Amino acid sequence: MSAGVVDAGLIGELTGIVGAAHVLHDPEITAGYAVDWTRRFAGATPLVIRPGDTAQTAAVMGALAGAHIAVVPQGGNTGLVGGSVPLAGEAVLSMRRLNDCEPTDELASQVTLGAGVTLGEAQAHAAASGLSVGVDLAARDSATIGGMVATNAGGINVLRYGAMRAQVAGIEAVLADGTVVSHLAGLEKDNTGYDLGSLLAGSEGTLGIITRVRLRLHPTQPERATALLAFATAADAVSAAAALRRSVASLHALEAVFGSAMTLVSRHLGVVPPVGSMDHGTGGGAWLIAEAAARSDPSDELGAAVAALDDLVVDAAVALDPAARQRLWAFRENVTEAISAAGIPHKLDVTLPAARLAEFVDGVPEVVRAADPAAQPLLFGHLGDGNVHVNVLGPGGAEPAGEVDEAVLRYVAELGGSISAEHGIGTAKLSQLHLNRTEAELAAFSAIKRALDPAGLLNPNVLLPPNA
Ligand code: FAD
Ligand code: MLT
Ligand code: ZN
Repeated sequence: MSAGVVDAGLIGELTGIVGAAHVLHDPEITAGYAVDWTRRFAGATPLVIRPGDTAQTAAVMGALAGAHIAVVPQGGNTGLVGGSVPLAGEAVLSMRRLNDCEPTDELASQVTLGAGVTLGEAQAHAAASGLSVGVDLAARDSATIGGMVATNAGGINVLRYGAMRAQVAGIEAVLADGTVVSHLAGLEKDNTGYDLGSLLAGSEGTLGIITRVRLRLHPTQPERATALLAFATAADAVSAAAALRRSVASLHALEAVFGSAMTLVSRHLGVVPPVGSMDHGTGGGAWLIAEAAARSDPSDELGAAVAALDDLVVDAAVALDPAARQRLWAFRENVTEAISAAGIPHKLDVTLPAARLAEFVDGVPEVVRAADPAAQPLLFGHLGDGNVHVNVLGPGGAEPAGEVDEAVLRYVAELGGSISAEHGIGTAKLSQLHLNRTEAELAAFSAIKRALDPAGLLNPNVLLPPNA
């Protein structure tokens, strides 16, 4: 089912649909579409097709289905689980050209966007109407709305607005055989059957190609206050996070960076954090970034809540103006880039029940070292959602032993957590999905997949284990 050597007749047919400039088969050009952001996952493709709208996407899918060619949909290619690249010679369907932003519907606080619109473009478009997109993440200049729905992306504001699925008020998609399904009215109450938007959110390109999304928008909260809080232990940071969630109504983000990740990002930036001790080296120590956002200045509310944490916080810095706030955020937003500059990590993104969170943060370094004594765990994440990113580097920046992934994810499952908080399963966690999902659930997944994609042409190497 892979594209292999592509038939000249098919290339002619695709060229007739999207134009010669958008059917790419020069290996030097297609190579750029075949390696992921982390550099851990790379393959090859004989064919990249770049449709310009829904009708072209449908015609392309019809042609590929007719030729039994498997396809990997790709947006900004910032996914972190190897799901956006052709690993077995599939064709790549690049969705970046579907970048139309329709006028914002201010009465409904919604907007319909092409799947290839980047998050940054969507944010700017919504801001022109005094509205904002509910999901925000550091890859905003490349990640696309289609890719973010396909992964059910999370990011830094989930505690206030929910993840990407919660933003979807309507969806348009092309199915494996080229059929278009479109439900974009965005009616808040609409109980007319299955919710295809919810189903496609988190489907990782396995059930349909998302072409347009009707997004819910939120009132902009222009007044902001940001605090960087230093703690001696993870347990103190977890207790403080819970207290802030209870007491700050305008809480907008609640992020964490733990000891060794703070050391790395601080070296990468060439700046030490204004609070907390870097003596922890690879050991303890934890920092929280808490941001409050509201229509009127939330600094008193945040300040009072921070003052009440007196017995937990070692030290705190509060910033109000955008430049000073950005200086605090740099210690969190640049962690991924700092790790990538240090090597090729295994990225394990997990959620723990609140009651087991501190135990996990304290226990996981030992679990990693037991699986690979030379591996270095780096912990950070969205603590307000119970979401910890466990990144693991091997010696000299090489990949760690594969056993690390299995050991960490088993530990997560034992503690009642999820092996994927926000990045998805992709190809990276295929063999561990059973840790969170029963055989009956996996059979139901397979039945849905077969119903919508009977020939198995849509992203065949991700999400569903081959024997599910
Ligand atoms: P891609 O990487 O191109 O694709 C991701 C998956 O979606 C693939 O399975 C692909 O086949 C599928 N897909 C893409 N487009 C479509 C479409 N139109 N129709 C159907 N399927 C499609 N993620 C978070 O959740 N939270 C974060 O905080 C976060 N921060 C990040 C920070 C950095 C620096 C980086 C590099 C990544 C981060 N990510 C984060 C991961 C990534 O940005 C998200 O997973 C994002 O949603 C991927 O969007 P994309 O357009 O790049 O999708
Ligand atoms: C983040 O929260 O920074 C992202 O999910 C990226 C990552 O996990 O590296
Ligand atoms: Zn994240």
